[in-house]
Amino acid sequence: MKFFVDTADVAEIKDLAASGLLDGVTTNPSLIMKAGRPMLEVIKEICAIVPGPVSAETVATDHKTMLEEGRKLAKLAKNVAVKVPLTPDGLKTCKALRAEGNMVNVTLCFSAGQALLAAKADASFISPFVGRIDDNGHDGMALIAEIMTIYRQYPHFKTEVLVASIRHTQHIIQAAKLGAHVVTAPPGALRGLFKHVLTDNGLKAFLDDWKKTGQSIL
Ligand code: E4P
Repeated sequence: MKFFVDTADVAEIKDLAASGLLDGVTTNPSLIMKAGRPMLEVIKEICAIVPGPVSAETVATDHKTMLEEGRKLAKLAKNVAVKVPLTPDGLKTCKALRAEGNMVNVTLCFSAGQALLAAKADASFISPFVGRIDDNGHDGMALIAEIMTIYRQYPHFKTEVLVASIRHTQHIIQAAKLGAHVVTAPPGALRGLFKHVLTDNGLKAFLDDWKKTGQSIL
């Protein structure tokens, strides 16, 4: 399973990339707003830190302008994945950008039918938003299970399921159990994977005993 981080905070990305656990990055207009920096500059910078796909989202709603935006974003770096919304214009743009050799992430997916459409449009990634589904009283992971079941019936589908809108570390584990190709998680949810009280206690006990030996390795 690939790990993407869902942030436009360059300091966070650098820190996570240093431990080798990042395969890519996703951003969206809200995350760019939060970062408070010019989008094109931030995307370029992130692309230089993480060699894997870096999603940069279009903001036009019509096909023609969305395609122009997508082409501009794709030119920023080889590893840009242009993000388009799951709308008829978005999927037209997806098809066109893919034909030109670009990676495309289709975002704002909330149903299995939408995921099927994205695969038909040759999306590189489909992003179902599990957290927002949970927030609305439904079961986000049930949608991932449904999409994985459908995609497995059609091995010629090349679209990867990118589980998005992750709210906590357990979402990552659940997505992995379902065989999802990618998760994009906020930094805190990724860091949660490191945590276990027995690791902390065990390390403390080893270090206390080591001190008693009076030895040093260096
Ligand atoms: C995915 O690419 C989106 O940026 C993201 O996961 C949305 O998550 P949110 O529901 O926390 O805004």
